[in-house]
Order: sequence, then structure tokens, then C-alpha cells
Amino acid sequence: MFDTIAPRYDLVNRLMTFRLDVRVRRQTLLALDLPFGAKVLDLACGTGDFVRALAKLGHTPVGVDLSYGMMAAAPEPGRYVQGDLLALPVADNSVDAAVCGYALRNLVSLPPFFGELARVVKPGGRVALVDVSAPENRLLRVGFDIHFNKIVPFVGGLFSDKEAYSYLPKSVAYLPPPDEVLRMFGEAGFESARRQQLTMGIAQMYVANRSAEA
Ligand SMILES: C[S@@+](CC[C@H](N)C(=O)[O-])C[C@H]1O[C@@H](n2cnc3c(N)ncnc32)[C@H](O)[C@@H]1O
Repeated sequence: MFDTIAPRYDLVNRLMTFRLDVRVRRQTLLALDLPFGAKVLDLACGTGDFVRALAKLGHTPVGVDLSYGMMAAAPEPGRYVQGDLLALPVADNSVDAAVCGYALRNLVSLPPFFGELARVVKPGGRVALVDVSAPENRLLRVGFDIHFNKIVPFVGGLFSDKEAYSYLPKSVAYLPPPDEVLRMFGEAGFESARRQQLTMGIAQMYVANRSAEA
């Protein structure tokens, strides 16, 4: 599915989110609070938005994604590796941090992914995972539902693949409740896990530190 929508993924993303996704990415990278020159994985990197932003900040990013087509559609060259979030082609304790944008809801179960994160991120390192969220405010929620369930599939169908852009809104429902996600981080070997809602609750970010005593 992602191979199919790859050529127009960036365009549809910007149109659908009114560029709010750019703001969310900036906030996510700030939350990582990286030392200069950090080795950072962009997991489920897609067309590499985080990879490019990290490189501009002077870090050493590597993007990993299952879809070759998404990485091939990256507008600039960078370091990309085809791989699965659940079996990362990366050595133990080898990266300072990891970021992941809009991919959690594609996973059937989060603990195996969090286990992989704990394996590859150095003790004391940090992860920031961002995804879509349904706003709590009732009025915003109505607008969000119309936008996500009607406008996104329509705009997606116009510029790309209608079926794919009908799946994407539905997939938000797959995410477990926040308390459960935070508990999963603790069980995987992370501490100080927290959740923050961004852009009036339309996005959510989980940040956690790899336990130092691991
Ligand atoms: C909605 S896109 C997000 C892309 C990018 N992170 C962004 O912020 O625009 C979700 C991405 O997750 C990737 N993906 C889904 N399941 C994956 C898995 N098990 N391993 C690696 N990548 C996966 C898809 O190929 C797709 O590129």
C-alpha cells in the first residue's frame, strides 16, 4: 500500500494536514533534546522527513522502512535501509535516539516494537514516537471526524489512492489507550515515559528514556 502511494505521499500529507505535520515533527525533535552529532534512527521513515530535518541539525540519521517505494521517493539523498520495525537491521545499544512518525497504528502489537527499541537504543538514550490522535474537545472532535473520514479519503482519492487513504483514518482506532502504551514502555525497559498532545490534540507524542542501568 505504501509503495503505491509513495510518489504523491508528501504532497497529500501537506495538503491534508495544512502543513501541521511539519510543526509536529519540529516539536518531536525538540523533545529528543539530542547532543550535537547524535546517531538517530528514523523508524518507518517513509520519504524521510525526519531524516532530512535531523541531518540539517547536524545529526547522523538513518531511515528504516519496510517500503522501498517510500524511501525511493525521498526528495533528497540520505542513508536509508529497508527493514522491519520488529527486526531492526541494527546492532544492540548502537544509537543515541530513535524517532518514529505516524507508524504505530500500523503495528498489530506495540510490545515487540518497544522491545526492539530497547535493544538498539543505548542506555540513557531517548525515543520520541508521534502519531495521529483524536482531540478530546467535543467541537474539535466533530471537525476531526469529518476531516479524517470524509476529506482525507476524498483528497487522497483525487491525488493518489482512495483505498489507502480510507485505511489510514481507520487505523487510528488501532492504538491502545495512552495508559496502556505508557505501561508497555516501562515493561520494555524505558523510564520517565510521558505522553503529550500536540496541535490541539490532533497529534500525540510519546517520549521515553532507555533505562540507564540496562
Ligand atoms: C504513514 S507512513 C509515515 C512515514 C513517515 N514516518 C512520516 O512521518 O511521514 C507509515 C510508514 O510506516 C512504514 N511501515 C509500516 N509498517 C512497518 C514495519 N513493520 N516496518 C517498517 N516500516 C513500516 C510504511 O512503509 C510507511 O512508510
